[in-house]
Amino acid sequence: MISEALQKAREFEKQYSPYVPENTRPMFHVTGAIGWINDPNGFSLYKGEVHLFFQYHPYKTVWGPMHWGHVKTRDFIRWERLPVALAPDMPYDKDGCFSGSAIELPDGRQLLMYTGVREEWQEDGSIKPYQTQCLAVGDGVDYEKIDANPVLTAKDLPKGGSEADSRDPKIWKEADGYWAIAGNRPADGSGSILLFHSPDAFHWTYKGRVASNHRQYGMMWECPDYFKLDGKDVLLVSPQEMSPIGLEFHAGNGTVCMIGEADEKKHLIRENVHAIDYGIDFYAPQTLLAPDGRRIMIAWMQNWDTARSHLAKDRLCGQMTLPRELSVRDGRLIQTPVRELSNYYGEKISYKNVPLSTETFLTGIKGRTLDMTVNVRPVDGSQMYHSFKLNLAKDGEHVTTIRYKPDHSIMRVDRSRCGYPFDIVHVREFPVYSRHGCIKLRVILDKQSLELFVNDGEQAASFVMYTPAEADVISFEAEGEVLMDVDKYEITFDEKDE
Ligand code: FRU
Repeated sequence: MISEALQKAREFEKQYSPYVPENTRPMFHVTGAIGWINDPNGFSLYKGEVHLFFQYHPYKTVWGPMHWGHVKTRDFIRWERLPVALAPDMPYDKDGCFSGSAIELPDGRQLLMYTGVREEWQEDGSIKPYQTQCLAVGDGVDYEKIDANPVLTAKDLPKGGSEADSRDPKIWKEADGYWAIAGNRPADGSGSILLFHSPDAFHWTYKGRVASNHRQYGMMWECPDYFKLDGKDVLLVSPQEMSPIGLEFHAGNGTVCMIGEADEKKHLIRENVHAIDYGIDFYAPQTLLAPDGRRIMIAWMQNWDTARSHLAKDRLCGQMTLPRELSVRDGRLIQTPVRELSNYYGEKISYKNVPLSTETFLTGIKGRTLDMTVNVRPVDGSQMYHSFKLNLAKDGEHVTTIRYKPDHSIMRVDRSRCGYPFDIVHVREFPVYSRHGCIKLRVILDKQSLELFVNDGEQAASFVMYTPAEADVISFEAEGEVLMDVDKYEITFDEKDE
């Protein structure tokens, strides 16, 4: 049955999404049809296609009662929009259908597992949210919430667990049934990731904790994901209220990758911990396992601390990152853009051994929807350069700059002149260790975003840039003597790709 709230959201996006100006929509990154989006949800395979749902408030460009928006794809690049999947329309989720995940059931239905939020006024005048885990089943377009909802409530939590902060279930299947993890706040106010098991995906029991933070790496851990990759166990979490640690973790909402070995109870014994993405705009990543064995991750390309500042005239707020292929190398998570992007390569422009010192412009190297790789090295191995600079999305007024200083081993991305007129964080620095000053930068631009992959995906950094589409100049600069190679592909959806 399609509730009134769901019908209203579906009609609203149909009626008003045509008014979203085309030049504010990215070409190959997912957005809502209209309004606000945050976390990716239910990133999974269903009947041979990749489905992606997302936290969605179609009516405004700010967060509001959460719906689940819905798109699907066959190649991670071109997405087909589907009608809104879930609306907050039941007593147990009347204040929001929060984040969750999806899986195909053996009977051919698709199961959505999400957090239902119900808020209640307390005697002292405060509002308390009650967060429970709920299920809906459907055919890839329409979903029914099950009668037994909610399937995980306060009674399923360990002693001291919080029913106000209990959310974001991620489901997967193993030979012995279904497993799910979810974020929860223990009595000390910090964060932990709880584990649940079900024989049939409908009846769930608590099985222990896979990890707890004891106030290290933030407080509440949101949107967990847990998977095996290259012989390791990997836990991804999105912590709130982080304290900075050097240039690895910044204050506020962050993302953390923990790599190690799970014991027989699936508790993670950590071997390494590092940031997932070093940019300003990255949160709540979620992964799927593709039929060809690739582990692919997508995230919200935004952050709570900056997302609230956007232009009033906008009819969209929020987009996803490009899906990224993951691997583990030397104890770190490696990320590279999905290889399907190359199916949309237009003209290639290449330069080899370009000497660089003053600002340099190269014919044909410009644009705002592109995939560009720049290899940088000192001219003379014994003479280290002082800095290398790549200026993007530039015109007389705007520019976003990536700068690398090999002596300091610091990459710095500065979007303060990109056209984002708010006093929020615009500069991010992060450690990058080069091999004798040689670095490889891969830059993906899609109108209003920049994703940077350093040294074949050893590090990634994502940024939103609210820069006018006409600012498409790219230039290169160096202090000291540098040689560089540049390969640039325009991304196009030409006829040949249809
Ligand atoms: C993370 C998050 C989730 C929650 C959702 C609500 O960004 O706070 O924990 O389910 O957003 O929209």
